[in-house]
Amino acid sequence: MKVSVLGCGTMGKGIAQVFATYGNSVVAYDSLSKALEKAPSDIGASLDRLAKKDPEKFDKQQILPRITFTGNLEEIRGSDLVIEAVFERVEEKTALLRKVSDIIDDRCMLATNTSSISINKLASAVRNPGRFLGMHFFNPVPVMKLVELVKGEHTDEAILKKAYSISESIEKSPVISKDFPGFISNRILMPLIREAIAVYEEGIATPQDIDKTLRLGMNHPMGPLELADFVGLDVVYDVLKVLYDEYGEPRFKPPITLRNMVNSGKLGRKSGEGFYKY
Ligand code: CAA
Repeated sequence: MKVSVLGCGTMGKGIAQVFATYGNSVVAYDSLSKALEKAPSDIGASLDRLAKKDPEKFDKQQILPRITFTGNLEEIRGSDLVIEAVFERVEEKTALLRKVSDIIDDRCMLATNTSSISINKLASAVRNPGRFLGMHFFNPVPVMKLVELVKGEHTDEAILKKAYSISESIEKSPVISKDFPGFISNRILMPLIREAIAVYEEGIATPQDIDKTLRLGMNHPMGPLELADFVGLDVVYDVLKVLYDEYGEPRFKPPITLRNMVNSGKLGRKSGEGFYKY
């Protein structure tokens, strides 16, 4: 297949890497030249880590040449599948999806990696909403097995099935969700993180002990505060805001501590400080 991935951030790079690993020809698009310059070496570094276990399967000399990095959106023409993975902002996503709809042909499947925006809302910007759905990947994409497929009101059943088999072809394991705020994953994960922040805010325990509780007591690979730092505190804050706006329930209310951390530039791992220092 020809697969185009829009956005060379953490998620876009991971998605491009995975499709290229399984033999697809990939176009990785970003409007920012800085992101494009960094992407090949980041993907190469991730492949190097995976190659330690299976050098043949994750041979970067074979995989990297399958990816064309470009700032020219026209290069997505002729794609079988386009996955949008730009910033989690409605205006940015809808503007790009509109442009994409003018370039791709009718047989192309279009997906968004959104973690919190309504598929039905984004579908209004798409020329062919029957071929549009959510394909939500998880960070780090090359390692995490899950893809959450989100069916909009207009998504054709055949397209959902196709997305399911495409996910399996890249050795991911899909689940299917209706278009409800947070889908399955963030509807469950975000209140957990929110409650962990509340335990910290109330002075009940240190971040270390909160995380240790979930790691050693419940076998989570990361505690909720470590995970929040890993996902990005700005992302957690934005997703909680969407959930709180939509459901109006206190279990989704973004904590003030989180708001203050985000406003002061403490965004977790990517900024060097969150609940921990990096
Ligand atoms: N690329 C390639 N390989 C990677 C990698 C990457 N980016 N990151 C980790 N790995 C590999 C490592 O090389 C290592 O491989 P080996 O087992 O062969 O040594 C393996 O993964 C484990 O990594 P580490 O030993 O470095 O560390 P770890 O055991 O703590 O695992 C982790 C790291 C996989 C990130 C693990 O901590 C984990 O699963 N954390 C939870 C992640 C999670 O929940 N992600 C979802 C976030 S929510 C989201 O993304 C969606 C949203 O909408 C918010």
